[in-house]
Amino acid sequence: MNTKPLRFFRRGAIVTLAAVDTSRTLLEVLREDLHCTGTKEGCGEGDCGACTVVVAEASGDLLKYSAINSCIRLAHSVDGMALWTVEDLTQADGSLHPAQQAMVDCHGSQCGFCTPGFVMSLFGLYQTAQGAAISREQAQAALSGNLCRCTGYRPILDAAQAMQALPPAQVNEAEVLSNLERMVHISRGLEANSSYMTPRTLAELLRQRAHHPDAQLVAGCTDVGLWVTKQHQQFAKVLDVTQVAELRRVEYYPHHIAIGAAVTLTDAFAALVADRPHLAEFAHRFAGLPVRNSGTLGGNVANGSPIGDSMPLLIALGASVVLMRQSGKRTAHRELALEDLYTGYRTNVMTKGEVLAWIKVPKAIAGETSRVYKISKRFEDDISAVCLGLNLHIINGRVRKASIGVGGVAATPVRARKTEAALRGKPWSQTTIDQAMAVLRKEFAPISDMRASSTYRSTVLCNLLQRFWLESQGIALTDLRQLSPSLDAELAA
Ligand SMILES: Cc1cc2nc3c(=O)[nH]c(=O)nc-3n(C[C@H](O)[C@H](O)[C@H](O)COP(=O)(O)OP(=O)(O)OC[C@H]3O[C@@H](n4cnc5c(N)ncnc54)[C@H](O)[C@@H]3O)c2cc1C
Ligand code: FES
Ligand code: FES
Repeated sequence: MNTKPLRFFRRGAIVTLAAVDTSRTLLEVLREDLHCTGTKEGCGEGDCGACTVVVAEASGDLLKYSAINSCIRLAHSVDGMALWTVEDLTQADGSLHPAQQAMVDCHGSQCGFCTPGFVMSLFGLYQTAQGAAISREQAQAALSGNLCRCTGYRPILDAAQAMQALPPAQVNEAEVLSNLERMVHISRGLEANSSYMTPRTLAELLRQRAHHPDAQLVAGCTDVGLWVTKQHQQFAKVLDVTQVAELRRVEYYPHHIAIGAAVTLTDAFAALVADRPHLAEFAHRFAGLPVRNSGTLGGNVANGSPIGDSMPLLIALGASVVLMRQSGKRTAHRELALEDLYTGYRTNVMTKGEVLAWIKVPKAIAGETSRVYKISKRFEDDISAVCLGLNLHIINGRVRKASIGVGGVAATPVRARKTEAALRGKPWSQTTIDQAMAVLRKEFAPISDMRASSTYRSTVLCNLLQRFWLESQGIALTDLRQLSPSLDAELAA
């Protein structure tokens, strides 16, 4: 099998690279093949943001911009897209882009190692804001995947808010869109017999999955990318699901939302938050923006990490998964409850020819009280020690239905069936919660590891149930982020 040429639109021209190995990352291609060393490698695992670049795809008549981590993204996955690196922002007259100028004006850089990554996240924000004012919260969300060890974040956040006041810089979007269209035509027909397969339709994906069961299936590569950069795995064949039109859609039905497995975490959480607005903070706490822009909900669910974040929530909401495969000339599918997907640590019921196609999430209904709590050492861009998703239907002071998903307590994401039973049919009261907490403590025996001890996990889990009860009673908890200790008050004391 050959590797088809890799093409993307950059600096006003289509770049064509022949024979790029299927396992090479975008960062390697930029730095080693194109000698564009402005994009830095810090961690090589999606954590620091030094390698951030911006890609754009056509979305109808518009361009959809995404800041992504080039260190864990396979190079071939940006085939057919427009790409900007930090070298590409300076204007034709030599002046700096507002994202760069604002960093200069606000003193947003010291050693400078993180700066190209910050500038690219700012560029992504600049393009998506389309001239609108940028709030502090939007700036924080856009920079959630970038770390700086020396400047401190205030000047960088100031830069994010200052760039809109500078003379504007514009991308020639009509030119970009017409070149994206051109690349579709140039690439047509080259897909056959390529070792990096990017099917465009579900039928094509299922056919290729059946013919190449040994190919490494990838979506956004935010898990798989680390197998390449940290474990040095190489893939002879890759089957990439991210361009499958059907799997990129979010579909709305009377009682549920169907999220295609290739929908990015950014878009999947937007759909979930639109239906249940209280999930907004949880969505923000899933990794950082560049990871959410590449990673997919399907990848999170299929990867099945015991500390993956979407599964406790989805289990609590009663989500199911649709698995599909080609069977002879026909397409076969089966649907199962999300918790039944998993058989053990990172193992699941999917056969070699099967793919995860859809995640179906019941819509919010009157009477439901749902919450999801993530406990991690860092607020942003960190993996959970434990995660608890709850969905209760309380009618006339009694628990009619209880559905609880838990992460970080077993080899797979799990459903807390015994705790659910301890709640179901009982009065919604502190006594019931006390009893349910006792059951929850015994239901799982979590391990101790670098993220948390077993005792910590069990204790926190039960405390989260208590917190859920308190919040349902309208009791405002102390939020450390709202505390602003006053020096005057301390001196007076
Ligand atoms: C810095 C960083 C922070 C992170 N933070 C979090 C976090 O806060 N919470 C969290 O839960 N995770 C986190 N992750 C993990 C990761 O981002 C998620 O698991 C993500 O959803 C994976 O999706 P993906 O599209 O990148 O999957 P990929 O890496 O492409 O694939 C993951 C696995 O799923 C399989 N797969 C993908 N799509 C399908 C499909 N359609 N059918 C069958 N199998 C499929 C692949 O074969 C592979 O085994 C983080 C990762 C990084 C690098
Ligand atoms: S090098 Fe750290 S996120 Fe890519
Ligand atoms: S300026 Fe030194 S790491 Fe950010």
